[in-house]
Amino acid sequence: AASALREERKTPLYQNGDDEYVDLDWDNLGFGLTPADYMYVMKCSKVGEFTQGELSPYGNIQLSPSAGVLNYGQAIYEGTKAYRKENGKLLLFRPDHNALRMKLGAERMLMPSPSVDQFVNAIKQTALANKRWVPPSGKGTLYIRPLLMGSGPILGLGPAPEYTFIVYASPVGNYFKEGMAALNLYVEEEYVRAAPGGAGGVKSITNYAPVLKALSRAKSQGFSDVLYLDSVKKKYLEEASSCNVFVVKGRTISTPATNGTILEGITRKSVMEIASDQGYQVVEKAVHVDEVMDADEVFCTGTAVVVAPVGTITYQDKRVEYKTRDESVCQKLRSVLVGIQTGLIEDNKGWVTNI
Ligand code: COI
Repeated sequence: AASALREERKTPLYQNGDDEYVDLDWDNLGFGLTPADYMYVMKCSKVGEFTQGELSPYGNIQLSPSAGVLNYGQAIYEGTKAYRKENGKLLLFRPDHNALRMKLGAERMLMPSPSVDQFVNAIKQTALANKRWVPPSGKGTLYIRPLLMGSGPILGLGPAPEYTFIVYASPVGNYFKEGMAALNLYVEEEYVRAAPGGAGGVKSITNYAPVLKALSRAKSQGFSDVLYLDSVKKKYLEEASSCNVFVVKGRTISTPATNGTILEGITRKSVMEIASDQGYQVVEKAVHVDEVMDADEVFCTGTAVVVAPVGTITYQDKRVEYKTRDESVCQKLRSVLVGIQTGLIEDNKGWVTNI
């Protein structure tokens, strides 16, 4: 199958030891979609198992207008990355955690999910087939997007009769247009992201369209992203539209506890572990908005966002500015995380996989 694909695309698949790159402006990668050559596709009927998937050229897929995903939003996605080491080889970062999170999300959305092995194998195949699209070390990463959806047709509300798992990829640089500069966040009081008992704790696609209105309103006013509050008291921090959030006060780093409304970020938990290794007291708790406004530092974490400093937060009529020094807690944690992800710092935690 691989040689047929190669023939069709007239582009060579990655060969071991080959340092070939596509022709891209690696110094100016943002977070736009630049689809890499190949995607991985695997199908499953409602009752059955996922069958053997395969790589195919990246392209449009056919869906019935009555597909469950299009009508009832039955889908979840993941985000992970392939990193290039200085020697040109590739690394994956904790892809088994994405697999487990997809499994939990699939249960919540009443979908079958690929096994951990199937998921990780799909990520590896997608990364290797698209090796030429993995930016040189230090220039960016290959963002990998696994998507699980109810692709079968259904009219009455219910789980779809067929599911499709797709993994596609795109080279990316910084998520925010600010680059590495500090973000300006706006505390949203009208709209909420998730409510207790809802699907805010999993990566359901239904968590994302509802934030667009608040996000686009804030962006039009010059903010980078929106911070959501809890839906009940509207006083406790949840997360931003695209990432988790941390608050630093002295040697204590707090982050909202995951209680079903907050996404359990893999970067979030990795940063918590790195921070506690570095001697910080790391606390998961309900973080009051007043505490945020009184913090020494605030930063965001996510696969796309990595670890990003926050420069200002605007809440009601108050605007607070935070320290964003070079030797900030945020920068320290970011450099350890990125060091592990790119193979510059030895991984003694079993987080990275050489592929
Ligand atoms: C990620 O960080 O991987 C996400 O899925 C966030 C998304 C809004 C880009």
